[in-house]
Amino acid sequence: MSASVQETTLEGTTPMVAVCNAGDLEPGWGEAAWVDGTQVAMYRTESDEYFATSHHCPGSGAKVMARGILGDRTIDGSRVPTIACPLHKEVYRLDTGACLSAATAPLPVFAVHRLDDTLWMEAGQ
Ligand code: FES
Repeated sequence: MSASVQETTLEGTTPMVAVCNAGDLEPGWGEAAWVDGTQVAMYRTESDEYFATSHHCPGSGAKVMARGILGDRTIDGSRVPTIACPLHKEVYRLDTGACLSAATAPLPVFAVHRLDDTLWMEAGQ
């Protein structure tokens, strides 16, 4: 998936780059996207939540995160969406990027906004 560089700014938000249409993502799966010279992983959960992270796993630097396994954990009584790396299965929170399975570096996460059918990622991340 590649993104044409289309930018916008909502009142009170940072500049954003259009990445893809929400319908380009299948529920429960991720896709890799090339955004402004950076590989990102876009995810759509089974409950139609959208997230973006680096496509590079912090564990090895391998460009694999879009092929990870989406899931969730219950933390302090709340459901937290997660992504498990497809190589060594380290589990990261999709909301904060924190690793839940090892003391390793967090997975960089990027804010995603859905406007109509377009998914926008905050630029400069
Ligand atoms: S490459 Fe991702 S956990 Fe090892």
